[in-house]
Amino acid sequence: MIILGIETSCDETSVAVIEGKGGEVIIKSNITASSLSMHAQTGGIIPEVAARAQLKFILPVLQEVLKKAFDCFPVDVTVSSPPVDAIAVTYGPGLIGPLLIGLETARTLSFVWQKPLIPVNHLLGHVYANFISQFLILNSQLTTHKGMPEFPLIALVASGGHTDLLYMEKHGYINVLGGTRDDAAGEAFDKIGRLLGFTYPAGAVIEQRAKRGDAKRFRFPRPLFNIETYDFSFSGLKTAVLREVKNIPDLDEQTINDIAAGMQAAVVDVLVKKTLYVVEKYAVKSVILSGGVSANQSLRETFKIEMHRRNIGSKLFFPPKNLCTDNAAMIAAAAYFNFQPVDWRTLSANPELYYE
Ligand code: KG4
Ligand code: ZN
Repeated sequence: MIILGIETSCDETSVAVIEGKGGEVIIKSNITASSLSMHAQTGGIIPEVAARAQLKFILPVLQEVLKKAFDCFPVDVTVSSPPVDAIAVTYGPGLIGPLLIGLETARTLSFVWQKPLIPVNHLLGHVYANFISQFLILNSQLTTHKGMPEFPLIALVASGGHTDLLYMEKHGYINVLGGTRDDAAGEAFDKIGRLLGFTYPAGAVIEQRAKRGDAKRFRFPRPLFNIETYDFSFSGLKTAVLREVKNIPDLDEQTINDIAAGMQAAVVDVLVKKTLYVVEKYAVKSVILSGGVSANQSLRETFKIEMHRRNIGSKLFFPPKNLCTDNAAMIAAAAYFNFQPVDWRTLSANPELYYE
């Protein structure tokens, strides 16, 4: 089955074509245009600016993806249908303006091409980035398949707006164990990055600076660390960093590196400890890391080390770095494994969507 995926929930305009066969998903084409540089200077995303950028990018990105996937160009998408079997689209959560651009595009294509339309929850899309087949490449040849996650599993969704812990019995059966009480993990990186003078989003820069920093110089709080809850809270961490920064009259580069290392260590400690607590409790077969923060190497390594130290037999999965942040391949993959088409006339965006 060939699925066209569309993702426009925030500042990325992404379209992908995937092929799903026998429980496996491979990417035929996945292209993302970003309006990030327009938001970097303002320290965050201005919804109106993001929506206008989505409108500008959506058709060129769609054309390019179809050209790459099917080797046919030009494609008049309003006339002929390419060989896709279904259309998947993010319908929430996200910013209403950007969401509507993708949604209206998908609804129109569903009507014109007469193809099933599958609405996808963006957060679940992140989880399904782990269900796209990964191969090891040796001597420029595709070799061993890295395997797929097995159920039951625990998924950590750590993105710019969410930090959620999910128990999944099987596809479509989700139990939300914990969520964000205030700031999400990615938000902590972004807000603290702003305090340190970095542009938005700051996660990747903080990771780089942390490599040159001393994580022990500043001991930042680990919120809700030893409390019996699966919820997360990171706003106190931001306040602690702010207090520290105010006390330092002249922030030199090494101090910035040390703060970056200290805050990253605090976030990683909390994410790893809470996740592994539920992994041990539920004795699951797989542990899945997803969302933009799962691109963080220190997070991945700490998970590996801690699982080994605690003798946890579950298999650990995280997506390749380009599939950790927002992309349409993960949306199409989620649709393949949860194939529930709706009538294009009835689908509307839901900016506040959580898990159903
Ligand atoms: O999942 P995502 O692309 O978008 C949302 O759905 O929110 O996540 C974006 C978030 C941003 O907060 C960004 O700072 C963070 O992921 N991020 C990282 C890294 N790369 C992106 N955080 C820590 N380390 C990274 N390497
Ligand atoms: Zn996302």
